[in-house]
Amino acid sequence: MALSGPVSHRTRVGIVGAGPAGLLLSHLLARAGIESVVVENHSREYCEKRQRAGLLEHGTVELLREVGLGARLEAEGIEHGGIYLQFAGERHHLDFRELTDSTVTIYAQTEIVKDLIAARLAGGQHLEFSVTDTAVTDIDTDRPLLHYTDSGGVRHEVTCDVIAGCDGFHGICSVAAPAEQVWERVYPFSWLGVLADVAPSTDELIYAHHVDGFALHSIRSPEVSRLYLQVPATDEISQWPDDRVWAALQHRFALPGWTLQEGPIREKSLTPLRSYVRSPMRRGRLFLAGDAAHIVPPTGAKGLNLAVRDVARLATALTEWLGQGDPRLADAYADDSLRRVWRATHFSWWMTSMLHTVPGDDFNLALQLSQLRQTTTSRAAATTLAENYTGVAAA
Ligand code: FAD
Ligand code: PHB
Repeated sequence: MALSGPVSHRTRVGIVGAGPAGLLLSHLLARAGIESVVVENHSREYCEKRQRAGLLEHGTVELLREVGLGARLEAEGIEHGGIYLQFAGERHHLDFRELTDSTVTIYAQTEIVKDLIAARLAGGQHLEFSVTDTAVTDIDTDRPLLHYTDSGGVRHEVTCDVIAGCDGFHGICSVAAPAEQVWERVYPFSWLGVLADVAPSTDELIYAHHVDGFALHSIRSPEVSRLYLQVPATDEISQWPDDRVWAALQHRFALPGWTLQEGPIREKSLTPLRSYVRSPMRRGRLFLAGDAAHIVPPTGAKGLNLAVRDVARLATALTEWLGQGDPRLADAYADDSLRRVWRATHFSWWMTSMLHTVPGDDFNLALQLSQLRQTTTSRAAATTLAENYTGVAAA
């Protein structure tokens, strides 16, 4: 029997990963008339259900609207004009509208991914789920190759002009483009996140500092709450049965005259907290974007917003290069992006350090309380938080 080689294809941009970064990049390129192929190693159903981010900066919302992804976002997104900071038995409101004339919007990452997948498929774009053995080669030549095996077991080889690595922190693209420098901080705690079928007990997000650990009350819809607890990095999910989760949430959010409503927990997951930046975000014709290039702890709600900004810039750069033959923006992509990445990295580290407690470290605890008091009493300090949180301060 004759051995047959892989099926060959040709595209302009090969994209690894159908998370928000890869899907949005493909969408933006298509609007500029540039064809792409997106490959994803999980199923469509998995990608549409994976619980993650919920909070969008104003600039992210504007961009999604401008590129035709605003219909459901406008109908179902919940605009928020501030947050609550809770500590030492007090709850303070920070008013972003008043401080920065800006807002944020609650619209889950699952919904953005659903909107993007629907738009990609409606536009007849090449989007493959459940692939295996993805590889990128020849990135230092003019014709980089994207290899994968489709869900039916057929091997493919796609000849590209450029490959975009949008495959998250555990993907293969960052390995194919080794970093010259990596900056990393691994925190000694994780977030235990739950999705509960109960109306939110708050009108805006509550970030609660507590001696026993941080807690966050977020929102998904008028009927669904999203809640997080700081837990030791060594904990396993089996150590957190539902009644223990609710008891810890009740304890950390407790405030006289306010009640945290409980309901059935639908989903529960653990996320280790980490800061990670790598440089450069490009090697040859392989460009990295989103979590493939950087990770921030979720305390500042920046990861998805950073991924969106990366691909907005990358789409413009690739359009100029592949469409008009001008490589200047593509050449500047890595350095320009890093400035913004470091602003978000600092803010996320700062929020994490201010709100998460370290058992037995009373010096740290006193510093945190002092910082929280200043942030809620000084207009200048509150404005700094608000500018970073809403994205007004994006570099
Ligand atoms: P991902 O979403 O990780 O997508 C990468 C994709 O690549 C995945 O679908 C993966 O399956 C695929 N892939 C990996 N390897 C391969 C391979 N070899 N071949 C093919 N495909 C591959 N951010 C915010 O802005 N606001 C928030 O409120 C917020 N809250 C968060 C809460 C939690 C609990 C967590 C965990 C994260 C939160 N984030 C938040 C961060 C945000 O979810 C991420 O930054 C975002 O998902 C990054 O998108 P991405 O497309 O770069 O990567
Ligand atoms: C969320 O809704 O999932 C969320 C909101 C704010 C954060 C992190 C996560 O800081």
